[in-house]
This record gives sequence, structure tokens and C-alpha cells, in this order.
Amino acid sequence: MASTALPPTSLNPYQQTHEEKEQQYPVHYRGVKDLVDNGSRTLPQIYVRPPDERLVINSHQQQIPLIDLSELEGAGRSATVEAIGRACRDWGFFLVKNHGVSESTMENEMRVGREFFHLPTEEKMRYFSTDHKSRMRYATSFNVKEDKTLNWRDFLRYSFKPLEEMVPLWPDKPTDFRKENAEYIRKIGDLASILLSAISESLGLPSEYINEVYGDYSQYMAYNFYPACPNPEQTLGIQGHSDPGGLILLMQDDVGGLQVLHEDHWVVVRPVPNTLVINLGNQLQILSNDIYKSVEHRAVVNSNKERISVATAYGPSMSTLIAPAPQLVNSSSPAVYKGCVYGDFLDSLQSGSLHKKSVLDCLKLDMS
Ligand code: OGA
Ligand code: NI
Repeated sequence: MASTALPPTSLNPYQQTHEEKEQQYPVHYRGVKDLVDNGSRTLPQIYVRPPDERLVINSHQQQIPLIDLSELEGAGRSATVEAIGRACRDWGFFLVKNHGVSESTMENEMRVGREFFHLPTEEKMRYFSTDHKSRMRYATSFNVKEDKTLNWRDFLRYSFKPLEEMVPLWPDKPTDFRKENAEYIRKIGDLASILLSAISESLGLPSEYINEVYGDYSQYMAYNFYPACPNPEQTLGIQGHSDPGGLILLMQDDVGGLQVLHEDHWVVVRPVPNTLVINLGNQLQILSNDIYKSVEHRAVVNSNKERISVATAYGPSMSTLIAPAPQLVNSSSPAVYKGCVYGDFLDSLQSGSLHKKSVLDCLKLDMS
């Protein structure tokens, strides 16, 4: 994969002062928290979604599966693997409990993230970058340079590989940000690898299949911060999308806002204390040859409470070619996708806005 040094571009967040950034970028690049703090009481037009993308009242009461992992490494392994397989096939999303990440580790991770977004904008802008290859960046919306309508979201996204090298580049405020993040990452990394083994097995593949294909896998974290919004029904925190990577582990606070598309309905993922939300990204859909789906999801916002979530994504290394697993391809189930190097997949995704599955669709083989 790419060199470990930060890319020497003018967009490198470490090479510009915040005064330079302020001159270079329009005011809305500073984020939605900044907008609210500066007294905005109405939703600026740039956040107003066209009617067909707005919220539809959701009366759908279904809930995504909740899987207890306490027996995964014990006598209940096969039943748990089967439940994971069913959830991956039917939903592409599930909650897990008894996952091995302690309550205090989770709480501290949320707290330092919340404290970061409450820092003065100037402090956050030290990390601002529009370069998606930047290994540590603060930004807003999805791709603020390209998005026609902006998302009501600020985010901090950073790589944590290799951990020792990345930690000194992470924010130094709040003071325990680095310590708590390093702790959370160690714990969640173990869980990711355990889940990837279970998912391999659920597909009938050798336990280590996905871990081995991913090789020296890529990892990143993203805190999403959604301030309370003046007109929440006219906008979204994050618009409908599927995640590009492999396995995503998301922790959300108790506010709620995540919705998953299931059988043409948006189903609310209710916050359940001490659970994590697990979902499959595009690379697992390709590898499973469409047996599992990377399902569309979005986040809505509300008028009285800010919300925070933290996503950890485990994907292939940037140079890995991802294609349907040969064991899952045969004459009755031909390959649905052509292979694609993960780094190229991300480049194509970032060259546009966040459109539904556009890159995945481009990889579809002609089945006629
Ligand atoms: C994401 C995402 C949902 C949420 O970060 O890709 O879908 O609830 N987040 O914050
Ligand atoms: Ni997502």
C-alpha cells in the first residue's frame, strides 16, 4: 500500500494554518456545529433536500436482529454463526451484545469525541482537509466540494494503522483523546477479526478466508457529529448510502437517528445500551457474490438534541483486488461482479458525490 508518510499536497491539513484555510474555504466548510454556534436559526438553503429525498413518516415497526455473541467462541458457535449469516443475508445489518468491548471503554470513546466537536472551530480546523486520502481529517457533509445538497453532519476521520505511528497525529485536545481512542481501537479490532471469521464461516468459506484476503487490512475510524437542527424534516444528517469498505462497527449514543432500508421501508435502528451496530460494506457484497448485501442506510437529525456516532471500518488493503470468492461462483451462480482494487474503488467513489451504489453498479458483469 501507499507510503506511510502523509501526502505532500497543499491540502495536507498539517501544512496550512487555520487563517490560510479560512481564506481558502467558504464559510460552510467550517461545519454545521459552527453554523449553529454562530446563531443560525433557520436551515440554509444548501442543506434543504429536494422533496424526493426528504423524510417519509416511518410507521414500520420491524427491528434489526440483535445477536448475543457470548457463545461465539464456545459451545454455541454454530448457532451464533448461523444467526450472523441470516442477519447478513436478510438485513446486511445487525446489533451485537456481549461483544467484549466494556461499557467504560465505550463511554470514554463517546465522551472524548463529543468533547472534540465542542472545541472552538479554529481548533477543529487545524485538521480540516478536503483530501479524502488524508489520514487524519476534520470535515463536514460527505464530500463538501461536490455535494449538491449538504449533509447536516461534521466528522473526524482518521486512520489508525499503524497505531504507534498514527496516535501522535491524532487531536491532542481533549487531552485524553489519544489514550481513549487507542484503547477503544484495540478492543474493537479483536471483535472485528472475530466477526470476519464468523462471516467467512457463515458463507461456507474457511474461517480465516476474509481476514486473509484483506491481508494487511485498512482501518479507519470516523466520528459523526450531528448538531440539533432548526428544520430537521427538510434535511438529513447523512443521506442514503451504502458503505464502501468491508465490515463496519458503529457505536451510537442514546439519541437515535440511524435508519436502514429493508424491503423498501426505512427501519429505525433503536439505540440499545451496550450494543454495537454491525453492517456490511460494498467489499463484502462483492466477495460474497451478492449473497450478502451492503444495505443502504441514512441518519436523520432532530431539533432538540445533538447526536454522535463512531464508525470503525475494516477493509481490504488499498492494493487488494476484491472479487467474488471462487468457492461461491459456479454455473448456477455466475460471478456478479468483476474484480476491483480497493484503492481504485475508493478513488472512483470520491470523484463523485455520495450516490447510491454507483461504483458497485459499475462493477456488475453483464448477466444477459
Ligand atoms: C456512516 C454512517 C450512520 C450514523 O458513518 O457511514 O452511516 O448513524 N453513519 O451515524
Ligand atoms: Ni454508513
